[in-house]
Amino acid sequence: MVSALRLYAEQTFVEQAQHYAAVLGMRGVSVEIELIEKLGSRFLRLNPELALCVDQDGLWLAANGMKMQPDWKGESGRLKRASLKSEMIARACNIAEKPRLIDATAGLGHDSLLMAHLGAHVTLVERHPILFTLLEDTQQRALDDKILHAAAARIRLVFSDSADYLAQQASLVQVVDVVYLDPMFPQRDQNQNAAKKQAQVKKQMQLLHMLLPEDGEMDLGDHLLPLAQKIAKRVVVKRPRLAVFLAGQSTEHQWLGDACRFDAYFQHDLNT
Ligand SMILES: C[S@@+](CC[C@H](N)C(=O)[O-])C[C@H]1O[C@@H](n2cnc3c(N)ncnc32)[C@H](O)[C@@H]1O
Repeated sequence: MVSALRLYAEQTFVEQAQHYAAVLGMRGVSVEIELIEKLGSRFLRLNPELALCVDQDGLWLAANGMKMQPDWKGESGRLKRASLKSEMIARACNIAEKPRLIDATAGLGHDSLLMAHLGAHVTLVERHPILFTLLEDTQQRALDDKILHAAAARIRLVFSDSADYLAQQASLVQVVDVVYLDPMFPQRDQNQNAAKKQAQVKKQMQLLHMLLPEDGEMDLGDHLLPLAQKIAKRVVVKRPRLAVFLAGQSTEHQWLGDACRFDAYFQHDLNT
C-alpha cells in the first residue's frame, strides 16, 4: 500500500478529483483531496512535497515546484518526423512488420507511443498504481487528439507486474512478436558514463524517480528477460550505451546510439 498522498484541486475540478481519488483507492493508493484557491506555480513552489493535482489537463504528479504527466502531446513533433528508418527503436523492434508487442516497463509510455504510431500493436504493462493512472488519463486525452488518436488506439494498457503478466501469457501458450524492456537504470557504480547521463535526466524523469524506490532497492528487471524469452520471438532491451547486459546475458545483435543502445535476443524456436 502506497502511503496517503495529497491531491490538490481548485473547486471547479472537485468532481474530477473525487473520480481520481476513487480510482487510485481501488488501486491501493489512499488519497486525501485538498481544495485550494489557485493551483499555480507559486502554490507548487510553496508545497514542494510529492503530491498529485488536477486541472483542466487532467491528473498530474507534482513535487519540488514542478508538475509532470506523460507528455504524449509533447511527443507530436517527434511522431511527425519519425520513420521506420530514422528511429533506431523501430529497427530494433522490427516495427515495419507491424508486430504484436508487449512493452513490459511502460513508464511514461513515450517509447510505446512512438512504436504504436509507426504501426505496432502495443500492450503496455505498468505496475505502479500512480503511473498507471497517469497513463490511463493520458491515453484518454490522446484518443481525442487528431494527431495522437491512431497511435493511442493501438495501445492497450494493463495494470500488472510484468513478471506475473508474462508468466500468465506463457501459461496460456501465447506467443508475441516482440517484448520490449526498458527497466530502471543499472547502479551508478556499474558504469561512470551511464551515471553521468543519469545526472542529466529530464524533469519528467526526476519526478518519475521520486515515485520509485531508492537506488539501493531498485528492481533492475533482470528476472523479466527469461520470462520474456519464453513468449517472444524477439526481446529488445533498452540500456544506457555502456551499461552491463540485462541479467548478464550477452546479445546476438545490438543497435548503438549516442546515449543508449538496444540489445536484441531472438528465440528461433518460437518463429514457426
Ligand atoms: C525507465 S521506465 C520506462 C520508460 C519508458 N520506456 C518510456 O518511454 O517512458 C521503467 C518503468 O518500468 C516500470 N516497471 C519496472 N519493472 C516492472 C515490472 N516488473 N512490471 C511492470 N512495470 C515495471 C517502472 O515502474 C517504470 O515506470
